[in-house]
Amino acid sequence: MLTKSYLLKKKRMNTSKQNQDIRNYIDSNFAKEDDLLKEVRKGGSSAFQVPGQEIPPYVGKLLYFFVKLRNPKKILEIGTLCGYSTLWLAKGLSPSSYIISLEQQPLFVEKAKTNIDRAGLTDQVEVRLGKGVDSLSTMLKNQEGPFDLIFIDADKKSYAAYLEYAVSLAAPGALLLIDNLIPRESNVGSPNPENAQSCAVYEFNQILSTHPRLECVLIPTLAGEKGRIDALGIAILN
Ligand SMILES: C[S@@+](CC[C@H](N)C(=O)[O-])C[C@H]1O[C@@H](n2cnc3c(N)ncnc32)[C@H](O)[C@@H]1O
Repeated sequence: MLTKSYLLKKKRMNTSKQNQDIRNYIDSNFAKEDDLLKEVRKGGSSAFQVPGQEIPPYVGKLLYFFVKLRNPKKILEIGTLCGYSTLWLAKGLSPSSYIISLEQQPLFVEKAKTNIDRAGLTDQVEVRLGKGVDSLSTMLKNQEGPFDLIFIDADKKSYAAYLEYAVSLAAPGALLLIDNLIPRESNVGSPNPENAQSCAVYEFNQILSTHPRLECVLIPTLAGEKGRIDALGIAILN
């Protein structure tokens, strides 16, 4: 006789396969990558042994749409990796607009700069090396804002700090996008207290959903090669 746990496991496997199929279907039909994007996604991260850290292609397409719709003059990105999401954002840029992207790993900064160069975007995209919080603090001191679109996709424990810097550096009406807001674990909304990363994300969600200056929503996404259910936060600064 089939046990309840076996059936549950099988059901989860089927769901995961379906998520993966849906993600592949959307990516391949609605978010076609050019050769450079494909190479950065497939080669970029495996060279540094962090597979699947980039946003999925269709989320990249969504970033591109937001840029096209909003026509931001200045974009800030926190968490560059090898520049995959940066390249999607840059696709929608108008000629007088630019992106500053922050990354703490020197190897990633080097790789991202090469990819930006290959895309012919060095005049419009700057990748800065340093811890996100330090770079943001310097930017605030130097009055480098206001930014019209800010994309947060770095270490989760700093998300709350990134949000406060983002609010201080953003223009009124700016769009804030925050990735990975449903952590990888089964108890949605009530994380295991020993899982610091999940706790940080749910604490962040609490701040985001009640922030007095932000209107926001979470949109479920299918992340990683397996199409795990995650979420992208979308907020507007009032
Ligand atoms: C999920 S990856 C970013 C993926 C990228 N946005 C993309 O879709 O192509 C997160 C990145 O944040 C960087 N990171 C982690 N902690 C950081 C920190 N404290 N300051 C700046 N960058 C950080 C990591 O090195 C990594 O490259």
